[in-house]
Amino acid sequence: MKIIRCKDYADMSRKAANIISAQVILKPNAKLGLATGTTPIGAYQQLIKWYEKDDVDFAEVSTYNLDEYRGLSHDDPQSYHYFMRDNFFDHININLDNTHVPDGSNPNAEEACAEYDALVKAAGYVDLQLLGIGNNGHIGFNEPDEAFSKGTHCVDLTESTIKANSRLFEREEDVPRQAYTMGVQTIMRAKMILVVANGSAKQQAVYDMVYGPVTPRVPASILQLHTNCILVADEEALGMCPA
Ligand code: PGA
Repeated sequence: MKIIRCKDYADMSRKAANIISAQVILKPNAKLGLATGTTPIGAYQQLIKWYEKDDVDFAEVSTYNLDEYRGLSHDDPQSYHYFMRDNFFDHININLDNTHVPDGSNPNAEEACAEYDALVKAAGYVDLQLLGIGNNGHIGFNEPDEAFSKGTHCVDLTESTIKANSRLFEREEDVPRQAYTMGVQTIMRAKMILVVANGSAKQQAVYDMVYGPVTPRVPASILQLHTNCILVADEEALGMCPA
């Protein structure tokens, strides 16, 4: 895994945006795997600025998001469909028909997950997958488990994830308890993986991802086996890693 050390969140966001924008410049019809969460917001804001200056063009890009809460409609302000439009898609020239997020509004988990898997597979998997990392080492909503997951599936969120995500909801009880997420095997099929991490709360997870044993107890640790994975992280997130 290549590690890029950044001064702070702004530096991390710019460097991550640089890598994404380089991908789109090199391949205008790139397939981007995108992530929600607070970490990538700065990178999305930077990409929007470059789009406004005509430096990057998303007209031919298609996107595949990692995950979605089960049971939320696409217009629910807490849904990841909404998040992506609000933080990124509504501000660039992407064709919304080419943006994909698992269908959390479909209560039939098996159907929703199989449809999403078929879609990602038909696309030939993504060129670049952007990933955040959870405090417990999760990627997407692949929580610590006995085995690595494969395709898109429905998961029960762990207490630690519900707690971490409750900051974005009015009350902790409002956080959905289940989500549909791309599996670890699908994530690993991306041609390039770009992990972003900032802040001291991520120190342990980042250390375990990079230096710990490869184990489904730390889902992100499997990224050690990917041949083209880049970690862009600030000093605080890298606080336990050797300089
Ligand atoms: P965060 O979430 O960016 O909001 O910290 C990361 C994740 O849980 O994947």
